[in-house]
Amino acid sequence: ILILFHRLDCVIFKSSQLEVFNDVAQLNLPKNYEIGWMKSLNDETLLSELTIPGTHDSLALHGGPAAECQAWSLNDQLKAGIRYFDLRVSALGLIIMHGPIYQHTSFPEAFDTIKTFLSEYNTETVLVRVKPVIYLFKATVQNLIGNMIENDISWILEKIPTIGQVRGKIVFVQKKAFELGISLTETDEDKDYIVTDVTRKKEKIKSHLTKARDEKERADKVFLIYSSGTGWPKLHVFKTPKNLAEAINPWLYDHLNNESKNNPKVCFGVIAMDFPGLDLIRKITELNN
Ligand SMILES: *[C@@H]1O[C@H](CO)[C@@H](O)[C@H](O)[C@H]1NC(C)=O
Repeated sequence: ILILFHRLDCVIFKSSQLEVFNDVAQLNLPKNYEIGWMKSLNDETLLSELTIPGTHDSLALHGGPAAECQAWSLNDQLKAGIRYFDLRVSALGLIIMHGPIYQHTSFPEAFDTIKTFLSEYNTETVLVRVKPVIYLFKATVQNLIGNMIENDISWILEKIPTIGQVRGKIVFVQKKAFELGISLTETDEDKDYIVTDVTRKKEKIKSHLTKARDEKERADKVFLIYSSGTGWPKLHVFKTPKNLAEAINPWLYDHLNNESKNNPKVCFGVIAMDFPGLDLIRKITELNN
């Protein structure tokens, strides 16, 4: 009987071994992990008709529990399958920040990393969103980046492209703080990122996903849904981005799994996460199959 229980335990343990949350810096891709997951997408599909794994505050890797939102480097996130990046850029030297904290890299460096990745994996498309750290200096950030990417001007699109048109390219996506690129439709409302109650946050994420899913004009809109959050602005200091991701990512996996069972053609848009694990990323990419 003991052996039987032991076996049962192993089985249960195994099934809960899905990696939906990751806070380890080292990326360990399983053998045969499909890095170029966009290869199998039909060329005619619009970017707005995809469900895309992304990261929130993509390069916030430093500064302690209140500031850190990700564990993997940009290059490792690309390899893991992330195709949307949220870059918080300072007008001062285009360095990457999370709030007041310097993240030991810059926009030019990030841009080069993505370009290098795309030259190797030229079936892929990467969405980049630039957010000026200080709204007041948005024009400066925009001009500096505009000048820098002048030679890559064909990468800046105004209309939603098909995946076939933008393979091997970066597509800028934007809200009003940065005007280069195609427009994003955010489902979050003001301050939705502040979390004091995990259950309520899950309900919010669910309603945002449902809103994007049910949109009739979805071909005209690239939706952005956040699963990330923090309790710090309300002094819930244990609700760090990491702790919240640990609670939310398994739920998100289950929810997306249920949604895809109910409708194999379900589509949401970009899902921006903190500390995603490989199985969560894969669950999202598989929604496109
Ligand atoms: C997924 O569906 C199962 C079975 O209906 C249900 O028990 C579970 O709560 C659902 N998960 C989520 C996150 O909605």
